[in-house]
Amino acid sequence: MTAPVPIITIDGPSGSGKGTIADQLAQTLGWHLLDSGALYRLLALAAQQRGITEPEQHRAELAKLAVSLPIEFRPDSSGNSKAWLDGVDVSGAIRQPQISGLASRVAAIPEVRTGLLQRQRGFLRLPGLVADGRDMGTVVFTEAPLKIFLTASAEERAKRRYKQLKAKGESVNIARLYREIEERDRRDRNRKVAPLRPAANAIVIDSTEMSIQKVLDEILSLHYKLDLSL
Ligand code: DC
Repeated sequence: MTAPVPIITIDGPSGSGKGTIADQLAQTLGWHLLDSGALYRLLALAAQQRGITEPEQHRAELAKLAVSLPIEFRPDSSGNSKAWLDGVDVSGAIRQPQISGLASRVAAIPEVRTGLLQRQRGFLRLPGLVADGRDMGTVVFTEAPLKIFLTASAEERAKRRYKQLKAKGESVNIARLYREIEERDRRDRNRKVAPLRPAANAIVIDSTEMSIQKVLDEILSLHYKLDLSL
């Protein structure tokens, strides 16, 4: 029998710090990383490129795309990790606000979620996987021994997003960001399939008042404790 591949799942709403934490955790442990939100974003971008503005009316087509879409995660020539669609670096394009909204609608389609399931599980490889998303602990990797649910208040998450976008030189309105975050949260929490919620055995960490380093240290200490007890 082969040894099971260790997994840490990190779920939570947008702006909770999941992406940064998952990335740093994977680097610290030397494990693979699955940014499952990027898969939904890539699919949303592919839909937009095909002129689809109402994803709910193109369920079968999107489900097919979910299985067959030519996507890759690999570094560019400077060594920075990037997302590629059809051989084109779309890392910037998939972070546009319009794609965020479309991704959340695409992600609410059950056939799309089923289509992406095996793809996500394909990321599971030794020496281990850090999986970042909304349903990593509840649906995709239910067997994970360590499940984290990372939250922060909506105000704090809007502030973080505001700072990120400002640093990139984008003109942003914090009230609008807050509204968009609330709208996306509402859709992600209330959808019928795989709604955003902590797994029964998840450890909930509220990062509103915590630095990234503090969250990371807490997860690492949970991981090492669990590792010792196995
Ligand atoms: O984490 P993110 O903001 O990049 O995710 C983009 C959208 O995809 C978000 O609205 C929620 C959705 N998503 C999902 O439904 N399930 C996941 N495992 C990851 C993301």
